Amino acid sequence: MSVAFSDAGRKEFERLLARYPEKEAVILPALHLVQKEFGYVSDEAIVYIAGLLSVAPAQIEGVATFYTMYNRKPVGKYHVQVCRNLSCSLMGAEHLIGHLSRKLGIEPGETTPDGKFTLSEVECLGSCGTAPVMQVNDEYHENLTEESIDAVLDGLP
Ligand code: FES
Repeated sequence: MSVAFSDAGRKEFERLLARYPEKEAVILPALHLVQKEFGYVSDEAIVYIAGLLSVAPAQIEGVATFYTMYNRKPVGKYHVQVCRNLSCSLMGAEHLIGHLSRKLGIEPGETTPDGKFTLSEVECLGSCGTAPVMQVNDEYHENLTEESIDAVLDGLP
């Protein structure tokens, strides 16, 4: 399967190229763009942007696998990412991940059969002062409790 940016994506990519002096510096924003355009970072997308940047696919893959914010597999309509780092762990993240697993009927790393939810455990989301924290797509939810998680998920269309 071959992939290619949309016209708008291509334009955005060109803008990134013009903005950074080194091609390597474009890898991170290019991967964000890939994820925005295709939903996840496939092997095909890695080869595609490696070609656009004239760098080895392994270099792109190394970056894409190092950062947990890049999805290497397709995710559900709602990607529920729960921080499991120190502050969130101390504030009960593990318990809340268990609650989410039971509520959604999936384990971390899995997607519900209807494709609606993917549950992931992630490293620090940078909001330790409001732990425990989860991110659903682009939105942060802080000071989580079982009740607030239920309210967030039950309120999604
Ligand atoms: S430890 Fe969870 S946001 Fe930093």
